[in-house]
Amino acid sequence: MTDPLQDFEPETWLCTVDQVREFRAQLEALGQKLVFTNGCFDLLHAGHVRYLRQARALGDALVVALNSDASVRELKGPTRPVNTEEDRAEILMALECVNAVVKFEDPRVTKLIEAIAPHVYAKGGDYTVETLNPEEKAALDQVGAEIKILPLVPGRSTTATLKRVKEGEREQGQNQGGVVVTGGAVATPVNSPQDSGPLRIGILGSGHGSNFEAIHRAVAEGHLEADIRVVISDHAESRILRKAREAGLNTIHVDAGGAGWKLPASVQKEICDHLKRHDVQVVVLAGFMRVLKDPLLSEFADRIVNVHPSLLPKYKGKEAWVQALEEGELETGATVHLVNAEIDGGRILAQGKVPIHIGDTADTVLERIHTVEHEIYPQVLADWRKLGLPTG
Ligand code: GAR
Repeated sequence: MTDPLQDFEPETWLCTVDQVREFRAQLEALGQKLVFTNGCFDLLHAGHVRYLRQARALGDALVVALNSDASVRELKGPTRPVNTEEDRAEILMALECVNAVVKFEDPRVTKLIEAIAPHVYAKGGDYTVETLNPEEKAALDQVGAEIKILPLVPGRSTTATLKRVKEGEREQGQNQGGVVVTGGAVATPVNSPQDSGPLRIGILGSGHGSNFEAIHRAVAEGHLEADIRVVISDHAESRILRKAREAGLNTIHVDAGGAGWKLPASVQKEICDHLKRHDVQVVVLAGFMRVLKDPLLSEFADRIVNVHPSLLPKYKGKEAWVQALEEGELETGATVHLVNAEIDGGRILAQGKVPIHIGDTADTVLERIHTVEHEIYPQVLADWRKLGLPTG
């Protein structure tokens, strides 16, 4: 018996221009529309597929003009394309939404537009009708093609894919023997004086207090042996203070004056005194949006811990999840780290990753990050002594 797959060896996946013209004539005879688009399609990814499916939906058949290897090199540099024109054409032809692939050598598709006279021309959202190449635009107008600009999918591009591969390789090199944790807390132990009993913690927060709640719940459910000695906030009306009060905990409002990241020296001292008075061993920042300095940093050296909504060292500072989304990352996460004088720069104790999906918004990403924060933060505190971190 013959193997149908083995026998299936087309000479080329690429059509000639004449074949595409013939195809167009057949479609027109049926009252159907041919959609035309062009690109390099090197390392096909979900952004490409989405784009091509949307393009196909603009008419009845889709023809893709594929940059030849030489023209990709000219456009993108000597290391590209990663895949040959034959391979790129074969992959495209495997897509249900693609009816034909035709190669072009010039930097522009003007000649193909003139030869094929597509009914619709689709282009990615990095262009507008105004910024289309004037020569191509004139050809499209001349053949009466309708121009449609389709939205780009953030982060899904061959360039972004290659960048991620490079970064991944670099991280791999750096993390040999180091610690990158997904979902649990691990750190390199340091020697510390052993003590026992519930870990005495003081929590500082400015806002919603969902991390405070997760820690409080972990204590109540017996997953975390800790004593929340005091909850301090720079906002009198913050939800974290209200929740702590409702839970029957000691709460303190400190007047830090105005908005912003700054915390006046007198307030740094005031907080330090409150924490010491409450016999706190470990200071837990749960969405505390002010920068800590001395005497807090020196009095509680290696005993102040923070949770940050990114995979540090990436995206320090404000609205880290928005930064990750805008950079087109495919994943982000949360980091629990020790606090030192460098903002979001202290030793990493645990990280949890979350995916960024196509169509995500800042809110959906943040919600996913919060879920991870609420797992890893109580876990780090539960493991504090096991990790060899200091308690006093
Ligand atoms: C958390 O997402 C935390 O990562 C972030 O504030 C939020 C507080 O939420 N912290 C930072 O950005 C610190 N740089 P919560 O009040 O609901 O716990």
